[in-house]
Amino acid sequence: MKKSTMKSILRLILNGREREDAAADNLLLLDYVRETAGLTGTKRGCDGGECGACTVLVDGKPALSCITLAHRCAGTHVETIESLESEGRLSRLQRAFHEYLGSQCGYCTPGMIMAAEALLRRKPAPSEADIRAALAGNICRCTGYVKIIEAVQAAARGAP
Ligand code: FES
Ligand code: FES
Repeated sequence: MKKSTMKSILRLILNGREREDAAADNLLLLDYVRETAGLTGTKRGCDGGECGACTVLVDGKPALSCITLAHRCAGTHVETIESLESEGRLSRLQRAFHEYLGSQCGYCTPGMIMAAEALLRRKPAPSEADIRAALAGNICRCTGYVKIIEAVQAAARGAP
């Protein structure tokens, strides 16, 4: 007999706004942000915890939303790529990815930026090794990573 999926109320803060949604107990955080909240900046890549495309921040720490249950985030502050712009203006880190060609096809970019954002909050002047370590779980098939590292370095020194 097929088991019915139970729903229960999920309360959390998403990009600074309190939300309360009926969410299936097995709903993944990735599907919560993309489908329940309609924030499609967070990308589904491998869907198995291997590529980092789905990275969001949970209480300021990077989390792979494709392998995180939404209900595990009850009471937390979840941040997605949509949270970084302010009144239509890209953040310094987002601009740096654009200016320094850290984004080509762009599919990995939201996850890369959220992982880098967590690093820069924790360590505003990271070494190259810090940046490489922070982004080690994020795969990019286009850039060869050098431009991504340069973009994070540029954002850290206040450019562009
Ligand atoms: S889609 Fe989540 S790690 Fe690849
Ligand atoms: S820019 Fe295409 S996968 Fe990274």
